[in-house]
Amino acid sequence: MEVSWLRGPMEAWAGDAVIFFDFEKSPARLPGLNRWIAQRAGSLEDSSAWLDFKGKAQQAAVLFNPGDSRVPRIVCAGLGPIEKYDLEKVRMALGQVLRKCRDMQLQRVILPLSAFDGLPGELRESLREALVGGFLGLHRYTGYKTRDVDSNDHPQVLLIGDEEESRPDLEPLLSYATAVGSGVSLARDLVSAPANVVTPSFLAQTAAEISGRHGFALRVIDFDEARSMGMGAFTAVAQGSREPARLVIMEHSPPGAEARRPLVFVGKGITFDTGGISLKPSEKLEAMKQDMAGAAAVLGAFDAVGRLKLGRRVVGIMPCTENMPDGQAYKPGDVIHSLSGLTVEIISTDAEGRMILCDALTHARQYRPALLVDLATLTGAAIIALGHQVAAVMGNHEGLIRNVREMGQGVGERFWPLPLHDFYFEGIKSEVADFKNVGDRSAGTIIGGIFLKQFVPDDIPWAHWDIAGTAWASKDSPDCGQGGTGFGVRTLVELVRRWEDLGLPD
Ligand code: BES
Ligand code: MN
Ligand code: ZN
Repeated sequence: MEVSWLRGPMEAWAGDAVIFFDFEKSPARLPGLNRWIAQRAGSLEDSSAWLDFKGKAQQAAVLFNPGDSRVPRIVCAGLGPIEKYDLEKVRMALGQVLRKCRDMQLQRVILPLSAFDGLPGELRESLREALVGGFLGLHRYTGYKTRDVDSNDHPQVLLIGDEEESRPDLEPLLSYATAVGSGVSLARDLVSAPANVVTPSFLAQTAAEISGRHGFALRVIDFDEARSMGMGAFTAVAQGSREPARLVIMEHSPPGAEARRPLVFVGKGITFDTGGISLKPSEKLEAMKQDMAGAAAVLGAFDAVGRLKLGRRVVGIMPCTENMPDGQAYKPGDVIHSLSGLTVEIISTDAEGRMILCDALTHARQYRPALLVDLATLTGAAIIALGHQVAAVMGNHEGLIRNVREMGQGVGERFWPLPLHDFYFEGIKSEVADFKNVGDRSAGTIIGGIFLKQFVPDDIPWAHWDIAGTAWASKDSPDCGQGGTGFGVRTLVELVRRWEDLGLPD
């Protein structure tokens, strides 16, 4: 999405449409729209499209703009009832309305700052989130179609402020929305793209491009090096794949922060999960190209952090491999020596995510993390528990879990906590090794968390996000097309951006 930021009197504006918002069942229209109409001595009441417009959330009406040939249309976006208003509504509204403008092939649309007058909360917040919603709504995965491709032109958005003095500095909001919009789009595209394209080396290559753009340090560890380092759990999964595995480490070390303890983000990068020898059923197996969504979110977040030039040190660790059945594949019953020294009895080779993550989490300790977050499409049970709109969050630090939930809520990503009581460990006790990689069917998502907890020292604030439900959208919504969602990028960026609000020791 291309957004230009202009200032000037309302009379001078020209574009294909002007965008306004309105609440459902509101007795009076929002002030910006009223002023616009009044200045043009027009009336909406005689338009049938307006009569049918109820202001419902995700409803949009295209109206003839009375008395102004320079802006022939008003596109009005519904926000639902004012009592239920939150930032989600304005995000969805702008996403929806800009898609509509694109479908109408409009070239230039005006988004006046006055459209936000009368919305509850701060202008900065609603504008920032609306712009993010606009970016995300317009993003679409164009894929590999060579026939019947529709043009992917975005309308140019003119963001116009009329009352210069009273407006806050909006430039940073625009850069935020652009950075986050690009980061999420990058993650979405990686998840949506097929597994024969997005291989572990492709992810490493993408990391190299992002690092080159923003001056991040990059280290790519291959299979042999991982083995010689002692990453027996990561290589156990990787040994069954012909596609070369990569453990990708990216580091953003901004000037002045080099000596500080970093935030460390670990993302599961299974580029295709067949289940391995514990082979999955073939129904919907194609969906398992999404199993690198954790790594994609880390890459997307790093791109956004780089664009925003955030001042904190951040490390991203992405273990990337396929999980395949093969003559050399790891097998149920195998005992694996993880990097930590702990031994794991394999019950299911389909619980491969925790295997590659445990070595990545162990390796993360070397960086003395001030905060450790891992993201993974780890368990189908997370979908059973929470569905597709809410990710599970677990960890060893109540305050961090609360902050993740609050920050996520603010930027449009929902999390719900699951407990990690020590007694859950009973479920993975093993006769032959320190523990097993799966239990029975009970508490599947928690067991994943308990497994990972074995590899994280208590004094590192750690959160585990199970994004198996939220990484993929099976249908379109106003701010996300069908396909990869880029879930996690926004909250990761928020953790870096608002580090001080976390109240964690440096
Ligand atoms: N990648 C899957 C989890 C998954 C399922 C992600 C659906 C996205 C959508 C993971 O590796 C897996 O296979 N998990 C097993 C765990 C079990 C063996 C303990 C599962 O969910 O069945
Ligand atoms: Mn699996
Ligand atoms: Zn998996």
